[in-house]
Amino acid sequence: MFDYRARVLHAESMSLELLAQRFGTPLYVYSKAAMLSAWQRFTQACGGHPHCVCYAVKANSSLAILQLLAKLGAGFDIVSVGELERVLRAGGNPGGIVFSGVGKREDELRRALEIGIHCFNVESEAELLRLSALADSQGKTAAIALRINPQVETGTHPHIATGHRDAKFGINSGLAEALYRRAASLPGIRIIGIACHIGSQITQPAPFLDAARCVMALVDRLLENGILLEHVDFGGGFGVRYQAEPRLDVSALISQLRALVEKPGLKLLLEPGRALVAEAGALLTRVEYLKTTDQGRFVVVDAGMSELIRPPLYGAWHEIRAVTLRPGMPSEIYDIAGPVCESADFLGRGRRLAVQTGDLLAVMDAGAYGFSMSSNYNSRPRAAEVLVDDEQVTLIRRRETLDDLMAQEELLSG
Ligand code: LLP
Repeated sequence: MFDYRARVLHAESMSLELLAQRFGTPLYVYSKAAMLSAWQRFTQACGGHPHCVCYAVKANSSLAILQLLAKLGAGFDIVSVGELERVLRAGGNPGGIVFSGVGKREDELRRALEIGIHCFNVESEAELLRLSALADSQGKTAAIALRINPQVETGTHPHIATGHRDAKFGINSGLAEALYRRAASLPGIRIIGIACHIGSQITQPAPFLDAARCVMALVDRLLENGILLEHVDFGGGFGVRYQAEPRLDVSALISQLRALVEKPGLKLLLEPGRALVAEAGALLTRVEYLKTTDQGRFVVVDAGMSELIRPPLYGAWHEIRAVTLRPGMPSEIYDIAGPVCESADFLGRGRRLAVQTGDLLAVMDAGAYGFSMSSNYNSRPRAAEVLVDDEQVTLIRRRETLDDLMAQEELLSG
């Protein structure tokens, strides 16, 4: 959905040059069509099997994007009361919400109980007991799944792997059976499912299938204990192609996952975040300076780790394109540096570009964990976001102002 027309990069039918002129930079630009097509890939692969695709809100939690997915019938995977309120404001159905996370606070559990979400994905015995006591005291019943840790290695970056032996996430699969039995005897608790999530940006099918087999073996053992589940939730983690990663065939993988749950006739839940929004977004930034030092050449741009922290945080690679192609101009190898006062503040290194001061660059595949991980570090107002639908554009988040930046603060009196 991002392509060149007459040497200018477009999002669908909108020129990125015009968008930058109109809305300024840094600017997040999203393609609606790209999100729709990613969404369809998941739902078509689930086909006639009872399912719910629960979008992982953390990947991109902007209201308009949640609204778009809610209209398509998405469920939502949330990890905080903030995400819960966003989903509700965006028109999401409470009955499609699953609540993950190792550190759910009491007020968060209480609010989710009040709303009546679909399922709490419980991550520890202590959380189970807290939830039981809260639900019971309110005369409510909490529908739960235990998130188990199937202890598989995923080959992804250590910061975003979650299903290995020493992860803080989930319940060791060896201990889960006993905890399910305990849960069955607790007041205020109704067991409805089982969940796992083994990590993010996984580009091979094998770890998903290993984890799913581990989950399904547990489903069988629970049945022998008289515990009958209604759904299995295989989490998210479906990788996208940022550079040269193998392209994960999501449709084939989901067919294989379906085949594993077909027999017991369980509903299939998935929690994709990145795979629904990453490729739909680009971060638009303007070249402020070209700078040459003894060490090399730098393109200094007006976006950095405050807008997109993935490159410095994970060593993540995002393609960086010149918005306007300059066929006559000699290209050079540049490091793309942000304005933030940190040595790690680079959007990319060693990229061949033909650019001059004032040009625009597009950092591609930035729709997931881009804006949602952005910060105000260096007192930088957060970027604006626009959604493109063919040749229509909607400002879905205005640029933060300097007043916004200081709005919650007070000076000392006297
Ligand atoms: N479900 C649970 C319980 C999760 O913890 C996550 C992501 C997801 C679903 C969605 O995973 P996805 O489909 O997006 O891979 N900030 C990192 C990614 C962190 C992922 C955290 N959990 C990044 O920028 O790569």
